[in-house]
Amino acid sequence: MSAVTTVRIGIIGGGLMGREAASAFGRWFALENFPVRAELTAVCDLQPALLDWFRAVPTVKLLTPDHRALLASPDVDVVYVAVPHHLHEAIYLDALRAGKDLLAEKPFGIDLASARRIRDEAQRLGRFVRVSSEFPFLPGAQRVFRLAADGALGRLISVRAGFLHSSDLDPTKPINWKRQAKFCGEIGVMGDLGMHVAHLPLRLGWRPATLFAQLQKIYTTRPDGKGGTAACDTWDNATLHGALPIGGDAVPFTFETKRLAPTETNTWFIEILGTDRGARFSTKEPKTLWTYRRDKEQWWEKTDLGFGMPFKTISGGIFEPGLPDVLMQMWAAFLAERAGRLDGRFGCATPDEAVASHEIWAAALASHASSQVIKL
Ligand SMILES: NC(=O)c1ccc[n+]([C@@H]2O[C@H](COP(=O)([O-])OP(=O)(O)OC[C@H]3O[C@@H](n4cnc5c(N)ncnc54)[C@H](O)[C@@H]3O)[C@@H](O)[C@H]2O)c1
Repeated sequence: MSAVTTVRIGIIGGGLMGREAASAFGRWFALENFPVRAELTAVCDLQPALLDWFRAVPTVKLLTPDHRALLASPDVDVVYVAVPHHLHEAIYLDALRAGKDLLAEKPFGIDLASARRIRDEAQRLGRFVRVSSEFPFLPGAQRVFRLAADGALGRLISVRAGFLHSSDLDPTKPINWKRQAKFCGEIGVMGDLGMHVAHLPLRLGWRPATLFAQLQKIYTTRPDGKGGTAACDTWDNATLHGALPIGGDAVPFTFETKRLAPTETNTWFIEILGTDRGARFSTKEPKTLWTYRRDKEQWWEKTDLGFGMPFKTISGGIFEPGLPDVLMQMWAAFLAERAGRLDGRFGCATPDEAVASHEIWAAALASHASSQVIKL
């Protein structure tokens, strides 16, 4: 095995996702024969209690509320930024200009114009930048992707992908930044969940030619957490229908991103149907791949996949994968690709894919506002 190099990582935004990243680095040794060692050296957050949480990580040398202090540190090679969406552009650009490579959280800027500016600056400076989207690293998602990429499905009939949450169905859930357009963005739920849904279709080269969007604001106020109420002005649910130009056909697609989807705690799914075969995977059945086969009759066949991850770990092949596993796989893909060692495996979402996803959400806003089908 060739020498293992160490990459020193700084986290800006130590909330929900910042701590998930730290957890992935904390058991990095579970990856087998991996060419890069991930070491968390610095963390920035505005909340002292969160900085305290990171004191449990022995490799962390710098804890600071000032992201510029973290970016000035010579002990940081790569930055992971997981902050509210209105801060993406300013902090991403600061990171790039400080000479750091970047794993950026989605949606990669608060809107399309912002995403384009970040992508263009990264290109100009020659930084290695990728965008967070972990579900495609699940074995079931990988299998659906492979079947479609290999052209094994025949002529395509339909593509459905979605990401569904139900926790917002509780009207007593207090407001937070994700439910306010000035922090989350006008695209609302599409900014929160959309990159996850668009990643595989975009990687397959499928960009919508037309779309029609139905956007819903279902709860327009929420408790403000201080005894009053606050306006909840982001889109809760978005259902997009349209056409993907694939192989000379206009293939119908549906993308769903929903915060109010009864019974769905965190359901990511994709289904691609063709004339010869079809494939379906949902995180509701995390180790199950459904494939459809056509003979005289048609069958859905169910396969148990186990732990067939792109990057091998010590976990046995029969085990079920979960969210911490795929986040670790996503980080492994990021660091392997940065080191030129992806070796044909699936890579993280690119800035171009993030910009393409924003083009879809911008078209969805235009469609909803005009009740028209939009050509992209
Ligand atoms: N990939 C995924 O599955 C996934 C899941 C959830 C959220 N996200 C994305 O991750 C990002 C963060 O979301 P979250 O759920 O972790 O939010 P969060 O609110 O839990 O954490 C955000 C953190 O940023 C900190 N922060 C705010 N301003 C800051 C500043 N100027 N400098 C340093 N820290 C600052 C806050 O104190 C907070 O701790 C968003 O872009 C979100 O869309 C991704």
